[in-house]
Amino acid sequence: MSTIVITGANRGIGLELCHQLADRGDAVIAACRSANDELRQPGITIVDGIDVADDNCGVLLQEAIGHQPVDVLINNAGILTSETLVDLDMNRMRKQYEVNALGPLRITKALLANLHNGAKIIILTSRVGSVGDNSSGGIYGYRMSKAAANMAGKNLAIELKDKDIAVGILHPGLVATGMTENVGVSTEHSVSGLIERINNLNINNTGTFWHAEGQILPW
Ligand SMILES: NC(=O)c1ccc[n+]([C@@H]2O[C@H](COP(=O)([O-])OP(=O)(O)OC[C@H]3O[C@@H](n4cnc5c(N)ncnc54)[C@H](OP(=O)(O)O)[C@@H]3O)[C@@H](O)[C@H]2O)c1
Repeated sequence: MSTIVITGANRGIGLELCHQLADRGDAVIAACRSANDELRQPGITIVDGIDVADDNCGVLLQEAIGHQPVDVLINNAGILTSETLVDLDMNRMRKQYEVNALGPLRITKALLANLHNGAKIIILTSRVGSVGDNSSGGIYGYRMSKAAANMAGKNLAIELKDKDIAVGILHPGLVATGMTENVGVSTEHSVSGLIERINNLNINNTGTFWHAEGQILPW
């Protein structure tokens, strides 16, 4: 049994991660801004009031977790808004950077003392943040914030290698959630692939950018 912390746990991919991991017997700590009944089941401990865009979010989550060792931290919370070159809303762009790029760093830094040797850190990113894979342009804020999240993940992998903490930078696929207006594969399908990637993550493949289906993605 592992202790697994998940941000953005109340819906979409985060909620399905909570369900599949709790069902297999892990102790899930579900961090979210606002909890709902779908999270209330055995094996899931809810910590609400965790807004990853807030500089204080890490302290609040760490206080709720206390000294419990954490085996896997899954930075899942994310937002997507669509900006074009003629409609660059700077506040929306900044907000995506706060949530998608800085959010994982806030949470990871705060939980470092809980993450023991051999623990794992996951960043749910997107292939939309890949420079090499970008063939369609647009969605400036999301692309830029996820590219920054990828860099944060790679940096963490380098810095935490000596502590034997592995970092996985994972794209879930195009998944039918609120973010995509329900276009894409099911959350059940995506999450089973993500869990396989998490299981296979180790210190020798740390800092790699993977699709949930198992392909390595270009930066
Ligand atoms: N769905 C896809 O096709 C797809 C593709 C590539 C990558 N991803 C990534 O996968 C992750 C999950 O996406 P999803 O599809 O499950 O999206 P979703 O259904 O829109 O859910 C997003 C989750 O993030 C939470 N969240 C948003 N802003 C937050 C904040 N400031 N603080 C804390 N939590 C916050 C939401 O909580 P609230 O209910 O409080 O808003 C919700 O729980 C994201 O990082 C996303 O970028 C998704």
